[in-house]
Amino acid sequence: MSKPFVFVTRQVPEVSLTALKEMAEVEVWPEKETPVPREILLKKAEKAVGLYTMLTDSIDEELLNRAANLKVIANLAVGFDNIDVDMASEKGIAVCNTPEVLSDTTADLTFALLMATSRRIVEAAQYIKEGKWNNWAPLLLAGTDIHHKTIGILGMGRIGSAVAKRATGFEMEILYHNRSHNEKAEKELGATFVSFDELIERSDYVVCLAPMTDDTKDLFTYDVFEKMKRSAIFINASRGGIVVEEDLIKALKEEKIAGAGLDVFRQEPITTDHPLLSLSNVVALPHIGSASIETRLAMAALASRNIVNVIKGDRPEAIVNGDILK
Ligand code: DGY
Repeated sequence: MSKPFVFVTRQVPEVSLTALKEMAEVEVWPEKETPVPREILLKKAEKAVGLYTMLTDSIDEELLNRAANLKVIANLAVGFDNIDVDMASEKGIAVCNTPEVLSDTTADLTFALLMATSRRIVEAAQYIKEGKWNNWAPLLLAGTDIHHKTIGILGMGRIGSAVAKRATGFEMEILYHNRSHNEKAEKELGATFVSFDELIERSDYVVCLAPMTDDTKDLFTYDVFEKMKRSAIFINASRGGIVVEEDLIKALKEEKIAGAGLDVFRQEPITTDHPLLSLSNVVALPHIGSASIETRLAMAALASRNIVNVIKGDRPEAIVNGDILK
């Protein structure tokens, strides 16, 4: 009997594919950074039993309608807003992701971004490299404190909680807003649940870690930024689509808020002429939240195991639409 066909849409660590290759015919799109062209992806999807996808692949209605043999989509990310999960569920296709293994790494990056933005680390490093450092001066590149300030976390899931844990080390007051109360974060980290409005009005650091859904899409508008403190710093390590970027740019230019640290953008990758990059109070990163070698290896292994499990008829470790298995 021929082995089921699995298409991997980007080069991933070879070691993560060993078990998968024993049971499936695996084809890997041979590029490290260039996404598979849409037409090729559609063709591969037509015969695939498993798709091992990246957050840059749009797994939409058109693709799912052509994927007659598809049983599992394993996304190499905790986020899955690139996949039409409802449609996949209707067709009985398992949608899997890579939660937990990346929480601490993403929280590290989120906190690093917060620190880099508040203490102007990138600007300062650039300043010295450009030979501009002539003398010590009392307010030279002075940033703003982190310790004892208020952090407001939107999205108190695993990553949000890991960020909150880091904030306790800085003796910060921790506010959060979430779809539901996170009692563990309240009890163990002293986090306080507040309304979205209170979160944005009271926080010195507004940190967005909520997943992108119909409720959060375009959530951060000019009105929202205007309600923040003028000294507030906005951090986004979730998805760019949650922020209306023109409104953020306007708010930054008008000094409605003090700065922004962004790991994600509406259109990725952004180009060097993107207006956000011209602002000195913006620290921009190329969507590297979970990008440590250890974590990317763990994510790749989990994505692979998710496919193996579905093909074997076992419950995958991380399934988004678990209901379809009942
Ligand atoms: C995720 O897992 O959703 C991240 O954005 C990838 O780093």
